Amino acid sequence: MKRIEIRKPDDWHLHLRDGEMLKGVLPHSAAHFARAIIMPNLVPPVVRASDAVAYRERIMAALPKGLAFEPLMTLYLTETTDPDDVAAAFHHGIATAVKLYPAGATTNSASGVRDIAKVTAMLERMAEIGMPLCVHGEVTDASIDIFDREAVFIDRVLDPLRRKIPALKIIMEHVTTSQGVDYVRSADTLLGATITTHHLIINRNAILAGGIRPHYYCLPVAKRESHRLALREAATSGDRRFFLGTDSAPHVDPLKECACGCAGVFSATNTMACLAHVFEEDNALDRLEAFASLNGPAFYGLAPNEARMTLVRRDEAVDYPEKIETGAGPVTLFNPMFPIHWEVETA
Ligand code: NCD
Ligand code: ZN
Repeated sequence: MKRIEIRKPDDWHLHLRDGEMLKGVLPHSAAHFARAIIMPNLVPPVVRASDAVAYRERIMAALPKGLAFEPLMTLYLTETTDPDDVAAAFHHGIATAVKLYPAGATTNSASGVRDIAKVTAMLERMAEIGMPLCVHGEVTDASIDIFDREAVFIDRVLDPLRRKIPALKIIMEHVTTSQGVDYVRSADTLLGATITTHHLIINRNAILAGGIRPHYYCLPVAKRESHRLALREAATSGDRRFFLGTDSAPHVDPLKECACGCAGVFSATNTMACLAHVFEEDNALDRLEAFASLNGPAFYGLAPNEARMTLVRRDEAVDYPEKIETGAGPVTLFNPMFPIHWEVETA
């Protein structure tokens, strides 16, 4: 048996949803993560400071007693977002970051940004006050192949934006390509990137080879193997610009297993165990703490957690459920397609 102790991790990109789904999934994240950046793509989205206050209250009300968890709220950027409202939310600690979804890029992104020029004033204001921008980095142009949308976004949107507003702190979320990794490496320290657990483990074959497997479908979609290897290298390198954002994004099974299934992988329950497996496989267990617990807070200018987490490697494979039950319906858990021997030790 092997064990490692790390500072308690944070999740820098998480979908908690609302209502019964929120109640069902929150305990899984709160059991392992001290803090999480909460995605604002509800219907309707979390746009104003008052929306974030109300959503945060619903999250805290859904938190089981005895679990400590701090939701770090984000505001959904629209073309009509009010810069004064956003600045006040940041100033008062109501919102930690703003989220940019190109309109139509992913689940519930219809109110996102169509024309980046319309939000330039807002982004300049954020640069002034030091508020970070979380970016869903995919173009939505129907003529661009879905596997190329991240790389094209870097050239067409992200790089011009960084040149225009160099002082803006940006997180390129859930990078899935070697181009994404290379771009972050080539930039200064104001550009960081989150990487999900599942993109370190699956490539596009998981979705498409030998039958279509909707539970591996998420956005950005998993790419070919060479990209997965580039992500593994970045995550396990210790490079401070790369940190964990699980993008755990629950949808009930009927909305995944149908003719037009939703994008999103739910991984909150076994993410830390899967990551321990990945880092062990790459002889990088000593850098898991950097990826999951240190680099994220450093980028956001926050202190790392004082609490600790112990991960234990069992001789026997650990049983994780195939799905979890929520009041909204069953949600299938990410299956890494290898036996998981790691588990988080509970006190
Ligand atoms: C997310 C969701 O379901 O909200 N889905 C996903 O595939 N990751 C949206 C997102 O982060 O793109
Ligand atoms: Zn997401």
